[in-house]
Amino acid sequence: MNAEPGTRVLKADDASIKAAAASLRLGGLVAFPTETVYGLGADAGNGEAVARLYAAKGRPAFNPLIAHVADIEAARHIAFFYPDAQKLADAFWPGPLTLVLPKRPDGGVSDLALAGLDTVAVRVPDHPVALALLRAFGGPVVAPSANRSGHVSPTSAAHVMSDLRGRVDLVIDGGACAVGVESTIVSFAGAPTLLRPGGLAREAIERVLGHPLAVAVTAEEAPLAPGMLASHYAPKARVRLDAEAPRDGEALLAFGPAPSFSGTTFNLSPRGDLVEAAANLFSHLRALDASGAKAIAVMSVPHEGLGEAINDRLARAAAPRN
Ligand code: TXA
Ligand code: MG
Repeated sequence: MNAEPGTRVLKADDASIKAAAASLRLGGLVAFPTETVYGLGADAGNGEAVARLYAAKGRPAFNPLIAHVADIEAARHIAFFYPDAQKLADAFWPGPLTLVLPKRPDGGVSDLALAGLDTVAVRVPDHPVALALLRAFGGPVVAPSANRSGHVSPTSAAHVMSDLRGRVDLVIDGGACAVGVESTIVSFAGAPTLLRPGGLAREAIERVLGHPLAVAVTAEEAPLAPGMLASHYAPKARVRLDAEAPRDGEALLAFGPAPSFSGTTFNLSPRGDLVEAAANLFSHLRALDASGAKAIAVMSVPHEGLGEAINDRLARAAAPRN
C-alpha cells in the first residue's frame, strides 16, 4: 500500500509491533487490527494523545473510549469487577465483549478518555497482533474504531487508510478482521444492560449470566453510547431495508439466495450464515459506496445471534441523516 507522508503502513510482525509500542509511548496514534474491527490506539494515560485521537477521528464531542488491555489482571488495575462481570470476563475474554465497570481512581486512564464518567469500558481483544501490541506497550490503550466519525468501521488496513491517511502515525496491517462488527457492550453501571449489540451474541451472554440482560434506554433519552445514536454507521448511499428485490437505480445487498439481478450486487452470505455476514458487512457497505451506488436495497437478515448486531448497524445506515 502507498502511504502518504505522515502515515506509515507496516505489515504486522515483531519489528512493526515494537515500533507501534514505541510510537504509543511517545504519544503517537497507531491503528491496529482486532478481531472485531481496526482500532485507533493511543496511550490511555496520555491526555494529549487522547485529544489528538479525538481530533484525528473528527469526533464532534468527547465520547468515552474503550480501554484495551492484554488480560484480566490488567483490567483489574483499571476497573472494579462485580461477580457477574467476572463471570463474563472468564467466559468470553479474550473476545468481542466490552464491560462497562466502575473505574478505579488510580487506574491510569485519563479523564478525557472517560469523558468525565466514573465508569470505564474495558476489553481484552482476541487478536494476536492486538495482544502482542498491548503486551509490548505494557499499559491500557484506548481505541475507538479507526474510521472518521460517522463512517462505517474499518475491517482492513486499506479501509483505515481511506479514512485516516495523513491523520495518524502508523497503521499495522494484520489482514481482514474475522468478526467484522464491533464488540458487544454490557454495562454494569446498574443491572447488567446491553448497551450495544455486537460481535458476541446476546444469547451467549445471557446463558452465562443465567438471566436476560436489561435493555438500554433509547439514544433520545440518554446517549450512553454514541453507537446508539441514529445514523452512526453510515455509508454515503441511501439504504432501504427489508427489500425483497432491488428497484430501479438501486444496488443490492443480499443475504442468502438472492433474486436474479443484473445490477451491482454484494452478498453478505450466499449460504445465509450470520457469522460470515457480520464479517462481510462493513466491507460490502464500503464497496457499494465505492461502486458509486446512490441507493442500496438490503434484504432482510434474521434477528438472532449476530443478526442482532447486523440489523442494528443496518438500521443506523438507513436512518435519516442530518
Ligand atoms: O470492537 C470494538 O469495540 C472496537 C475495537 C477497536 O475494539 N472499538 C469500538 O470503539 O467500537 P468505539 O469508540 O467506536 O465505540 C465504543 C463505544 C462508544 O459507543 C462509547 O460511547 C461506548 O463504547 N462507551 C465507552 N465508554 C463507556 C462508558 N463508560 N459508558 C458507556 N458507554 C461507553
Ligand atoms: Mg466507532
